[in-house]
Amino acid sequence: MNHGPFLFLGLFATFAWSWFALVLKPQNELGTLEPEKNPVTGEVYPLNRAGAAQQGRDVYRANGCAACHTQQVRSRESGSDMARGWGVRPTVARDFIFDNPAMPGVFRIGPDLANVGNRQRDPKWHFSHLYNPRIKSPGSSMPPYRYLFEKHKTGVAPSADAIDTGTYSPGAGYEILPTDEARSLVDYMMSLKADTYIFEVPNPHPSTNAPTGTTNAVAGAVTNAPTQ
Ligand code: HEC
Repeated sequence: MNHGPFLFLGLFATFAWSWFALVLKPQNELGTLEPEKNPVTGEVYPLNRAGAAQQGRDVYRANGCAACHTQQVRSRESGSDMARGWGVRPTVARDFIFDNPAMPGVFRIGPDLANVGNRQRDPKWHFSHLYNPRIKSPGSSMPPYRYLFEKHKTGVAPSADAIDTGTYSPGAGYEILPTDEARSLVDYMMSLKADTYIFEVPNPHPSTNAPTGTTNAVAGAVTNAPTQ
């Protein structure tokens, strides 16, 4: 008996089902996500990153930072990310709608960076850390990114942008300045703030919730003030 047609149908069904489940369904559910307006505060989330931070995202990609860092905080039920202080709420697909490509990452040699802009708020900290991570984190296994910095002759006075190089001295009359790439990368780091409560991830603290009925979230659960 010729089993060819059955074989063909079986294969066709397998591929059709995979296409439906892996391409069509996710595209229908996630491909059309839009920024959301918080009915209480009027804040729109997410916004596209400011100009330099968008270039910084490319620097982040080009330097392989995503090989060691994730940008996805897991829910309390699925891991200890929130207990470790990596975020106040789990990451959701809407967080990435302006990022092309999105870089949620898969390996964690270093900490999750979804919310690092709230954790490390000082750009100078980031510059020194990028120049030599061990200045800020003794014993760090993160590689130094010195090629994102330049050595310059100090002018009449040291420039305000000169970075802290720890125990290394660039030599008398010299200073280390960040390149445009380093500046935009740090802008990107500072822009990583996924702490706005939205429909998918409402604020779990009822005391700060909006009055019931003012939102489309579970009974009055939207506000922007992170409370932990
Ligand atoms: C080989 C793995 C590795 C790579 C590649 C790497 N990192 Fe890291 N990163 C780490 C580790 C480990 C730490 C934790 C120790 C420390 O703070 O230095 C860290 C810490 C950080 C922190 C501090 C996070 C916090 O919670 O305080 C930032 C910011 C950071 N990395 C940014 C970057 C950027 C930007 C790049 C790319 C230019 C990058 N990392 C590439 C391993 C890596």
